[in-house]
Amino acid sequence: MKIKIILGIIVVAIVAFLVVNNLLLSPSEKSLVEKIKERGKIIVGTSADWPPFEYIDSSGGYAGIDIEIAKEIAKKLGVELEIKDMGFDSLIAALKGGQIDIIIADMAITPERELEVDFSMPYFIDYFVFVTLSSSDVKSIEDLYGEKIGVQTGTTQEEWANSVLAGNCTIVSYERVFPEMVLELKKGELKAILIGKFVADVIVSMDNDLKIAIEVPETTEYAAIAVPQGAEDLKFIVNQVIKELLETGKLKQIVEAEVEEFIGVKS
Ligand code: ARG
Repeated sequence: MKIKIILGIIVVAIVAFLVVNNLLLSPSEKSLVEKIKERGKIIVGTSADWPPFEYIDSSGGYAGIDIEIAKEIAKKLGVELEIKDMGFDSLIAALKGGQIDIIIADMAITPERELEVDFSMPYFIDYFVFVTLSSSDVKSIEDLYGEKIGVQTGTTQEEWANSVLAGNCTIVSYERVFPEMVLELKKGELKAILIGKFVADVIVSMDNDLKIAIEVPETTEYAAIAVPQGAEDLKFIVNQVIKELLETGKLKQIVEAEVEEFIGVKS
């Protein structure tokens, strides 16, 4: 009799264990890394208008520092890489909606974004600058009052401009920075554009008509890779890749090579 009860308890325990485990391992609960490996590819969202981080090269392919980092992550996972190019302001919704697995777009860590996505460790530090025509006499932010300033929709530059310059300048938001917003500046439609210094450096170095007119070092920000909230295993692998790239000096090499590549290709 006793044995029957014990056996009964064991059977119930095993069944309970299987039910719980099955629930934990049901398809919808698979970890993102498992899903990516099963699919055989990682889908990376970016906004390919921001050289040398990401841009469309002369052959129509995606190139840049972030694309190289994406390749390293795909390699670490042992999967193919698919790049999805979209408006910068659509990236977070696409990540939350599962259309992309990660965002690599020189995206800065901000408290607002942290409410919606998880960030890796930072891999780049930068601040904002105003780029104008070389012929411009703009030297300070006050010189921009009453003028039209271009920013990219959904960026930290847009947020900063709207809080610091609103009322004094007309802020015009663009979906794409390079080449679209840069061309508007060159046409004289805008007095200045507000972009990251690193991006400005490469654009200005290959275009004599443009210069960095004002630097805003107090806007320093840290770029990181965004993963869906709670995707701990994917974040772990992304962090491993970034750490290796930083520690081995490979990131520095990638940055140098990509700057050269962009300036060389476009000039
Ligand atoms: N660092 C800025 C931000 O996080 C701008 C990034 C723009 N990136 C791009 N691929 N267009 O908002």
